[in-house]
Amino acid sequence: MRATYERAEQIVSRLTTDEKIRLVSGKDAWTTEALDEHGVPSIMLTDGPHGVRKQTASTDHLGINESVPATCFPPAVTLGSTWDPALVEEVGSALGRESRANDVAVLLGPGLNIKRHPAGGRNFEYFSEDPFVSGKLAAALVRGIQSEGVGACLKHYAANNQEFFRMSCDSVVDDRTLNELYLTGFEIAVKESSPWTVMCSYNKINGEHADINRELLTDKLRDDWGFDGLVMSDWFAVSDRALGICAGLDLEMPGSGGAWDAQVKEAHAKGLLTTAELDLAVTRVIDLALRASEAEGTSEFDRDAHHELARRAATAGTVLLTNDGILPLERTGSIAVIGAFAKKPRYQGAGSSLVNPTQVDTFLSALRTAVGDAAEVHYAPGYDATTGETEEVLLDEVREAARKADVVVVLAGLPQSYESEGFDRPHLRLPDGHTAVIAAALDANDRTVVALQNGSPVELPWADRPAALVEAYLGGQASGSALADVLLGDAAPGGRLAESFPISAADLPADRDFARHPKQVEYREGLFVGYRYHDTAGIPARFPFGHGLTYTAFDYSGLSVRKSGEGYTVTVTVTNVGPRAGSEVVQVYVRDPECAAYRPAKELKGFAKVHLEPGGSEKVTLKLDRRAFSVWDVRSQEWRVEPGAFEVLVGASSTDIRARRTIKVEFGEAVSPAHGPTVFVANDNEFRLMLGREIPEAKGPLPYHRDSTVADLKETATGRVVAGMMLQQAKKAFDMSEADATTMAMFDAATREAPLRMVAMGSGGKLTLAGLDRLIRGLNVTSSKAWRARS
Ligand code: BGC
Repeated sequence: MRATYERAEQIVSRLTTDEKIRLVSGKDAWTTEALDEHGVPSIMLTDGPHGVRKQTASTDHLGINESVPATCFPPAVTLGSTWDPALVEEVGSALGRESRANDVAVLLGPGLNIKRHPAGGRNFEYFSEDPFVSGKLAAALVRGIQSEGVGACLKHYAANNQEFFRMSCDSVVDDRTLNELYLTGFEIAVKESSPWTVMCSYNKINGEHADINRELLTDKLRDDWGFDGLVMSDWFAVSDRALGICAGLDLEMPGSGGAWDAQVKEAHAKGLLTTAELDLAVTRVIDLALRASEAEGTSEFDRDAHHELARRAATAGTVLLTNDGILPLERTGSIAVIGAFAKKPRYQGAGSSLVNPTQVDTFLSALRTAVGDAAEVHYAPGYDATTGETEEVLLDEVREAARKADVVVVLAGLPQSYESEGFDRPHLRLPDGHTAVIAAALDANDRTVVALQNGSPVELPWADRPAALVEAYLGGQASGSALADVLLGDAAPGGRLAESFPISAADLPADRDFARHPKQVEYREGLFVGYRYHDTAGIPARFPFGHGLTYTAFDYSGLSVRKSGEGYTVTVTVTNVGPRAGSEVVQVYVRDPECAAYRPAKELKGFAKVHLEPGGSEKVTLKLDRRAFSVWDVRSQEWRVEPGAFEVLVGASSTDIRARRTIKVEFGEAVSPAHGPTVFVANDNEFRLMLGREIPEAKGPLPYHRDSTVADLKETATGRVVAGMMLQQAKKAFDMSEADATTMAMFDAATREAPLRMVAMGSGGKLTLAGLDRLIRGLNVTSSKAWRARS
């Protein structure tokens, strides 16, 4: 046992109940409570995940107010497409150093929710649609951060896969899908990096809020996976503090000014919350505080070196989607750079992860510096960087510039207002202005390269027209120079898609119920998310999972799959047979051709990134353990392997399989038959069978309760008056006078979707929970009268 934990236990034995209750809630927005007389320090926890967002003046959890300057590394979407745990770990240590330099004890990240649907507003903050990639890369980031004596925080646990009504919506998901798809990434990260903390999500999972979900917070996390750190709530996610402590939620964040103290005290006095349960939570809070304040690490760092690391990470995550040979660009002649993103880059996402960068590179100046006098560079903005809108004069400039140039580079993508924490995207299209600019450039010049800056997939109906198409994602503060490096061939495009780009959102089974109902979201597609769907259904993606080209070519040879212990060892030799240095991501998929439980066509179970000079060769060895072949067996509640034939597929993407072997797995046991959606979206009967219970009926807004939202209040006349007052209060609490459109949209969603208990918790004592209960009783009386009058 950790020495700090033992000392924490001793301290707890000397505390009064009141002192204990004080410690299990934060002091304010970003810090924990101290008990100086007992040697318990206060520590600071801040966002995260791809840079330090430490606020020194006004605080908020939506990225509204400014924070201290810090390196803005590429967000998880871009780190995810590096498929490079070593590099992600390096970024993690840099984040650890910057945290230390700012006295930040815990950096609130990484986020590793699964991208169930490409329209998820916060997908840029997550790694992948696949739990194996997510888990491995999250573990790498955690190891890096914690190597500097700073805690990391896995978030948002669990099944938080949309922004729409994220604070109260119920994710209705069957046990097998939950375990195989939505929990596995957390499990890998917990087991492989021992994070100091985990953050529970806002949403409900199968009817129960994450903060009071004992099965998730204790049975899985601690008992099954061996987590030994602290669980905190997402900001204001507490739905019942006393129940939360019993379930395994140690720390309420931020502090709610003692909103729950009376309830916890009463539950304790009545024996509903035992002293042992309370002590456990308090011990973990003190342990974290001691551990963080005594940990060793470096707080020295070189801003320029971190900027260079951000640049390297961005090139490693840049995905070359198509290339007819135009790239890398020649440094001669004239180059037309089109698109306002060339001067005002889109390089990070909006919301709580918003970093105040130390500097920002732009593509235009990076390109000009790199080509010097060797080539002429002309620029036309084409569209407005903020709105994405264009107009005829701007399009004329585009045509003119494109016509005169030897080669054209168009920067397009999603303006910040299109994707953010707090709301999902209503469609996957680019802004019309961007589409028009791309078309104008392509019509004027065949030698047009399109580079995209966006945090999640977009529909690309014109994808085969440009001479090359590059997905630069959100590259962090060095995105501009990183893109110039890749386009000019000074760096190899190192990225592979960690998510599928569908031809159309309507193709996707999850589309049916994504972000539609405020109270409930039904995961009727089961395991058919991303490539698991495309490959099983035979519905191609525009660009498949794992895809990414290079400026060279790789050959795969000598695949062998050998039994070793309770698993297999896969070896394959990769050779760079092309003219330039580059990196290849070797992907290993497992296919179970026959199983009692339904299974996707194949699943990723291993990957490795190799960097090779021309002619260079490397023997890659990957392990497939028992788990790589198993399914979550709902009946026995354990991972089981059904013995028999399996195929091991090795390739450069989920659809570019270069070699395969069939093996006969002899270990394992019978797997219980498991139902799935026969045509990819479960009908009622199938969904009932998958859930093993009746499909819950999505609740209506009435009668009101603590979990009702401000939007629900609008259902009744008195409710509307109360909602109006609440919105006014919220506006007073935050200065939105200089907020941009994205921040406004996020703020509106956050206030409209806020559960009433959250309004009370954030009211600074103006509305107590008891007061809220009285208000709700009153509202329900008037609303039932109104209903009676109507009928
Ligand atoms: C977000 C978390 C974040 C927290 C603090 C919440 O709204 O969901 O990811 O860490 O705010 O800013």
